[in-house]
Amino acid sequence: MPTPEANQVTIREPDDWHLHLRDDDMMALIANYSARQFARAIIMPNLVPPVTTIAAAEAYRDRILDVLPTGHRFTPLMTAYLTDEIGPDEVETGHTRGVFTACKLYPAGATTNSAFGVTDVRNIYPVLERMQKTGMPLLIHGEVASSDIDIFDREAVFLETVLAPLLGDFPELKVVLEHITTADSVQFIQAAGPSVAATITPHHLRIDRNALFEGGLRPHAYCLPVAKRTHHRAALREAATSGNPKFFLGTDSAPHPRHDKESACGCAGIFCAPVALESYALTFDEENALDRLEGFASEFGPNFYGLPLNEGSITLRREALTVPKIVTGNDLSVVPFHAGETLAWCAMERSQG
Ligand code: NCD
Ligand code: ZN
Ligand code: ZN
Repeated sequence: MPTPEANQVTIREPDDWHLHLRDDDMMALIANYSARQFARAIIMPNLVPPVTTIAAAEAYRDRILDVLPTGHRFTPLMTAYLTDEIGPDEVETGHTRGVFTACKLYPAGATTNSAFGVTDVRNIYPVLERMQKTGMPLLIHGEVASSDIDIFDREAVFLETVLAPLLGDFPELKVVLEHITTADSVQFIQAAGPSVAATITPHHLRIDRNALFEGGLRPHAYCLPVAKRTHHRAALREAATSGNPKFFLGTDSAPHPRHDKESACGCAGIFCAPVALESYALTFDEENALDRLEGFASEFGPNFYGLPLNEGSITLRREALTVPKIVTGNDLSVVPFHAGETLAWCAMERSQG
């Protein structure tokens, strides 16, 4: 158990319960940032075209494993992208064959590559019925896509108009509300039954909406759901460090090429993988909660998913870490979260259990 002044912290190997690994050259550039610090990750299916079949998920999993360095210890856990048309049999067979760990619900139009997402949750009720029966988790990008609703209110409106009725209809369904950004979501999750949990990103624990406009427009602080007011960030920090097992780690690391972010219509997504664990450690340290990092990072997620805990461990040291201003390779440049900053925590030695 680390003391507040501890200069190092060793925790069970963590997992990332929400990760975008992309494909092709981008994947080859960025995959190892996650593989070096996480033992498993839930891989988001929002490729173009999206991963909607067992065959596509298996092929994607093979491509991921192909770009990882030899000797890696990283297991990609694949997800199915729910569309209006996807059938319950494909989902259930994929789950029983160990291909689909979970299904992902993108409300159509809510975020990056969500055009093929679900236009009305009632369209996927037969799939949800089956998932509830088989115990397969539903992962949700929880925002309404309506342009009539203020962008800062879209998560809170989703809770009321979509999620609450859905949980009423499927009280036993395992649900993870992904990358929560509001005090409203924190309260909602706390009040919900044991089958409902949430992930929290490293960046939403650190930035509020002011970060988007600090001295000018800051495209690298832009992601969806967009960061909210400071009191929401405080509620997220409280939830993440509270020891409540309903809140666990999901980085939502979502790289886009620099020119697609620094553009007249910049893409949503923050590339936090290079500093994910270090950033969480910084926040937990600031909240005097380093002793709660292990639960959040390494235990609550697998327990929720019904998967075994990892056997290995990872050590973070209180040591200056200078974050690169840019990550380049394969003719791509990507700006990481915390670019150019010096962080107080540095991961790691990883050891096999
Ligand atoms: C993600 C992406 O780029 O794929 N972007 C983001 O801002 N978080 C999509 C998502 O997780 O919503
Ligand atoms: Zn999302
Ligand atoms: Zn995401």
